[in-house]
Amino acid sequence: MPAINLNVNGGAVSVSADPDTPLLDLLRNHLGLVGAKFGCGLEQCGCCMVLIDGEPVKSCGRALSTVAGKNITTIEGLGTPERPHPLQQAFLDEQAGQCGYCLPGILVTAKALLDRNPTPSRREIALALDDNICRCGSHVRILRAVERAAAMMRSGHAKEAGR
Ligand code: FES
Ligand code: FES
Repeated sequence: MPAINLNVNGGAVSVSADPDTPLLDLLRNHLGLVGAKFGCGLEQCGCCMVLIDGEPVKSCGRALSTVAGKNITTIEGLGTPERPHPLQQAFLDEQAGQCGYCLPGILVTAKALLDRNPTPSRREIALALDDNICRCGSHVRILRAVERAAAMMRSGHAKEAGR
């Protein structure tokens, strides 16, 4: 089987696997990155969402053959417990999750939104997260957390610019 080379959370990865293997399988079962979750397996729920070259993609439906040479970012690539990404900190501050199963997908989707639009309206946030289902009904707190993260990121940038 030919090797497929890609970049995951900033590190080079080379795998020899069936090219039809879903990206989610590679992440969870071969690389030990279990943040992205298996939910429906049918590209319906969004809990398997990762970023491919900065765009949110449902990894359960994305074959390895289509991600050769791409940059993949999973929730593990956002921050660390010591240095959480502002989105992770904001979700903690707002207690935005209940079971948390949807959050890895929601956080990377929200990151893609804030990277391209630092000042999204609540409606724009809701539209960006339209493909991410939260079964616990935490939507209002999730929206608030994304707004809080956007404000944190803007004030962080303002501080850096003022240095
Ligand atoms: S597990 Fe991929 S969209 Fe539901
Ligand atoms: S917090 Fe449980 S599915 Fe969203």
